[in-house]
Amino acid sequence: MTLDIAKIRARTPGTQHVAHLIASGAGLMPQPVIDALQKHIALEARIGGYEAAAQEVECLDGVYASVARLIGATSREIALVENATVAWCHAFYALPFKPGDRILTSEAEYAANYVAFLQRQKRDGIVIDVIPSDVDGALDVSALETMIDERVALIAITWIPTNGGLVNPAAEVGRVARKHGIPYLLDACQAVGQMPVDVTALGCDFLSATGRKFLCGPRGTGFLYVREPWLVKLEPAMIDHFGAPWTDCDTYTLRDDARRFETWENAYALRAGLGAAVEYAMDLGLDVIQERAWQLADSVRARLREFPGAVVRDIGREHCAIVSFTIDGRDPRETVMKLRAQGINIGASDPSSTRLDAEARSLPTLLRVAPHYYNTEDELDRLFNALATT
Ligand SMILES: Cc1ncc(COP(=O)(O)O)c(C=O)c1O
Repeated sequence: MTLDIAKIRARTPGTQHVAHLIASGAGLMPQPVIDALQKHIALEARIGGYEAAAQEVECLDGVYASVARLIGATSREIALVENATVAWCHAFYALPFKPGDRILTSEAEYAANYVAFLQRQKRDGIVIDVIPSDVDGALDVSALETMIDERVALIAITWIPTNGGLVNPAAEVGRVARKHGIPYLLDACQAVGQMPVDVTALGCDFLSATGRKFLCGPRGTGFLYVREPWLVKLEPAMIDHFGAPWTDCDTYTLRDDARRFETWENAYALRAGLGAAVEYAMDLGLDVIQERAWQLADSVRARLREFPGAVVRDIGREHCAIVSFTIDGRDPRETVMKLRAQGINIGASDPSSTRLDAEARSLPTLLRVAPHYYNTEDELDRLFNALATT
C-alpha cells in the first residue's frame, strides 16, 4: 500500500496553512478527527453532556477496541486517560516497592518518569540504576542482562526519547524482562503513531502513550496498556467509584479491567477524536506511515549534513522520525520563533527533558524536526531555505 499524499493533505487542513514539521510535539489532526470532536461537542451542546455520552455510547466504547487493535492488545487491557504521563504514573505508582528494590532504566528516560523514580527513591527507598548505552548510543541489552539480580523490581525504559532519533531495542529488553520474570513498563509516547506497535512482540507488561503526537489525535488524550495477568493484581494508587465501585458501605470492588485506572468524569469529545485518530492511522497503515515519516527524516538528516554549522545529534543504529540537531551560533529558541513567523513549525528540546542523556553528551538545547506522513520534500525545501536566510 502507498500513501496518496495529495489526498492526505487535502484531508489535513493544517497542511494548507503551515509547514508543520514537529509531530513529536503534536501532529496535525486530519479531518475525521476534527469532525469527531466537533460532532460530539455539538451534540453535547444540543442535547446535554450526559445524554450525548449515552447516545454515542457504542462509538465511545469502540475507542477501547480501536486502541487495543492498534497495539495488539484486548479492550480489557486499555485505560483511556488524559496524557501519556498520567498513563505511565498510573502503572508506576501502582507497583509496590520495598526499600532496596532496584529499578533499571534507560539513559534516554523522559523527565516526567525520572522525577517519579526520584520521588519513590525518597519515599520508598528504591534504588535507580541506569542501563548503560552501547557504542552507538542505544540501550545496551547485554549490559542489562548483567545487571539483573533478585532485587530488580522493574525495568522501565523509554522506547523513543523526546530529544532525538534514537530507537531503543524495546523488544529485546522485553525478552530479558520475560526471561527473568521482571515487570516491564515501556514509555511508547513517541513511538505510537509513527510505527507499528505490538505489545506481544514487545513483551511489555505496561505501555503508556499519548494521542496528540504521531497519532495526530487531540491534545489531552492518552492511554495505558496493562497486560491481562496484572489486571487482577494491581491496586491503583488512586481510585474513585468508577474504577472501584462502592459496593457496600465498607467495601469497594475494583473493576476487573484496565479501566480500574480511570475515573468517572471524562472528556468524551476528545475520546471520540482519539478513536477517529487511531482508526485513521490504521486505515493508512502504520508500516507505510513509518516508511514515509522515517524517509523524510532521513532526508532532513542528509540536508543537515550539507548545511553550514549544522550537527546532527541523533544516536543509535536506527533512526526514527525525530531529527535533533544544533547549528553553530544559532539560539535554538530564537530559531524556532523566527521559523514560526514564516509558517514553519519545528521545535526545541532542553537538556532538562532528558537530563541523563543530555549531561552524558554535554548537549545544549537542541533543535527538533519531526516530519510525518503528510509532509513533503517541498516543505523541507522551505525549511532549509528559511534556515539559510534567517
Ligand atoms: C518520551 C516521552 N515520554 C512521555 C512524554 C509525556 O507525554 P505527555 O505530555 O502526553 O504526558 C513525552 C512528551 O513529550 C515524551 O516525549
